Parts: sequence; structure tokens; C-alpha cells
Amino acid sequence: MAEKSKILFIGGTGYIGKHIVEASAKAGHPTFALVRESTLADPAKANLLNNFKTLGVNLVPGDLYDHQNLVKVIKQVDVVISTVGHALIEDQVKIIAAIKEAGNVKRFFPSAFGNDVDRVHAVDPAKSAFYGKAKIRRAIEAEGIPYTYVSSNYFAGYFLPTLAQPGQFAPPPPKDKVVIYGDGNPKAVFNKEDDIGTFTIRAVDAPGPWNKILYIKPPKESYSSNELVALWEKKSGKPAQKPSLPEDNLLKDIQEAPIPITVVLPIHHGVFVKGDHTNFVIEPSFGVEAYELYPDVKYTTVEEYLDQSV
Ligand SMILES: NC(=O)c1ccc[n+]([C@@H]2O[C@H](COP(=O)([O-])OP(=O)(O)OC[C@H]3O[C@@H](n4cnc5c(N)ncnc54)[C@H](OP(=O)(O)O)[C@@H]3O)[C@@H](O)[C@H]2O)c1
Repeated sequence: MAEKSKILFIGGTGYIGKHIVEASAKAGHPTFALVRESTLADPAKANLLNNFKTLGVNLVPGDLYDHQNLVKVIKQVDVVISTVGHALIEDQVKIIAAIKEAGNVKRFFPSAFGNDVDRVHAVDPAKSAFYGKAKIRRAIEAEGIPYTYVSSNYFAGYFLPTLAQPGQFAPPPPKDKVVIYGDGNPKAVFNKEDDIGTFTIRAVDAPGPWNKILYIKPPKESYSSNELVALWEKKSGKPAQKPSLPEDNLLKDIQEAPIPITVVLPIHHGVFVKGDHTNFVIEPSFGVEAYELYPDVKYTTVEEYLDQSV
């Protein structure tokens, strides 16, 4: 059997990163996580780092902005997966430069894990954020670095507990009132975070997603707002109020809403009004679908996820 690639994570202690690091270690990949010195000493991160150590993850002190060290660390692995957060997206040019200098990387997964940023209809501020991710794609391609871009659409844990109502956070609200954007018909895709980890790691040594977009988009698991609320009403046994918000009003709210609602609302506009998760066909020239590639993976469905909330 071919040896499993050594994987370096940059941003592995973050929200989505930790799920992918865990999937990597559990799948038997020699797994390395670049962790800042301050984070290694942070009591709030101690449990997470101990869990990593128990799983056999190698914690490597380092920082995105320490070029020489980054090159040295990258030289010891085969694949780099970045899960840095929103603020550092464009600074991934530092990773690109280090990969280029190291010269040994078989594949780079930049921080993506959301919409396919080349196929979005977002308004600002989401438009600028997506543009930053697209710029990183173009820089990777210009440097000839082999890549996989993971489009995992919505994180279930972020959006399903609130039925995608912005400004509502844990503990999950009662979900007795759900605003429907536009006509509520375009479908969105929700993936549980550990499933995103599993599929991302499956792609690491697979030829299919090489220089392609890996879409995590189960065919029967897309839900429009109308369908999602109907499903919730069925599960909870209670009707919900469903005020509708026409697109023009939503666009006005996007301009006036406070942070962080103003960050999420334009993404919802793109997804729930324009259909950015589901309004295009995945052509073999640019993409592959994870559930088709790996039908043996048992994933959590939206129904199963909501069952946990009832
Ligand atoms: N599809 C969705 O629903 C959805 C939702 C949210 C995010 N996303 C996307 O998921 C991706 C990851 O976002 P996230 O929210 O998971 O990120 P996050 O929780 O903010 O994590 C950021 C990571 O970057 C690390 N980091 C920060 N500064 C660094 C530096 N100078 N050098 C090295 N590492 C550094 C952090 O390490 P420390 O532990 O040291 O701080 C942390 O591990 C992004 O592309 C984001 O757009 C998608």
C-alpha cells in the first residue's frame, strides 16, 4: 500500500481546522500542526492541544509570518492544508511563497471551505471576502502549485442550530420565527464539520480532486429555506412564523445591519436568494463531487442533525 502523505496544517487550531486535523490523524496520515508559541502556552487551547497530542499530531511551533521557519517545516511534509481565518486569507501569499521556495509540496489546500468563490453573486462585504479567496486561487495557479480547493458550503454547526437566522447563536433559539429571504426556494447545502474533515482528508492522496474543486454537496441534502422550516416544523411538531423579506429589503438590511450580522447577511443573500450553492452544474473540467467519489463515507444528514436539536 502506498504511504500516506505527511500533512502540515496551518490554522489547525481554528474552528474548522481542528476537525480536519483530527480526521487526518485518525486516517493515519503523519499529521503536523503549525501552532504559534502564544497558542502553545494558552490555557484556553490546552484541551485541544492535548487531544491533538493524544491523536499523535506533531505540534510544530511557528507562524505564518516567519518565512524561514515555514519553509523549513514545509520541506518535511508532502501536503499543506491551510484553514486560517477570514482576516488572514490574503496573507496566504506567505504560504504560497514558502511552498514555492520549499519546492516539494504535492498539493496545497488553501483556506476555502465555503462557497465556490469563482461562482458567487455576493454583494459587499461578502463580495470582497470572496474576492480575496479568488485572488489566492489565481496566485496558486500562477505559481503552478498543485492544489485542491474544498467547497464545503455551509458548516452545519454554524447555521443549522439557528435555521440560518443571523444574529442568533448558541444556545439554539426556539426557532419559532424564521425569516424567509426572497421567495425561499433556492437550495442551500449544509455539511457537518467532521464530515468536511473526512472528505478533505480522503482527497489528499486521491487523483480525482487534483487541480480541481472538491465540492461537498450531497445530492439529496440541499434544502431551501421553505423546505428547511417545513422540516423543522415537522420535527418539532410546532408551526413557525415565517415572515418573508423581499430581496430589496434584504439588500437594504445588509447596508444597515451591525457587525457580525452584516457579514453573514450578504452570504445568505447569495445562497438563499441567488442560489450560489446549487445554481450551477459541476463540470468535470473544474470539479468533482465528494459524495460521488467516496460513496462509502457515512455522513450526517440534515435530518439527523436537526433530530439532535429537537
Ligand atoms: N462555510 C462556512 O459556513 C464557514 C463558516 C466559517 C468559516 N468558514 C471558512 O473556514 C475557513 C477557516 O475559518 P475558521 O473560522 O475555522 O478560522 P478560525 O477559527 O478563525 O481559525 C484561524 C486559525 O488560524 C490560526 N492563525 C491565526 N494567526 C496565525 C498566524 N499568524 N500564523 C499561523 N496561524 C495563525 C489560528 O491559530 P490560533 O489558535 O493561534 O489563534 C487558528 O488556528 C475560512 O476560509 C473561513 O472563511 C466557512
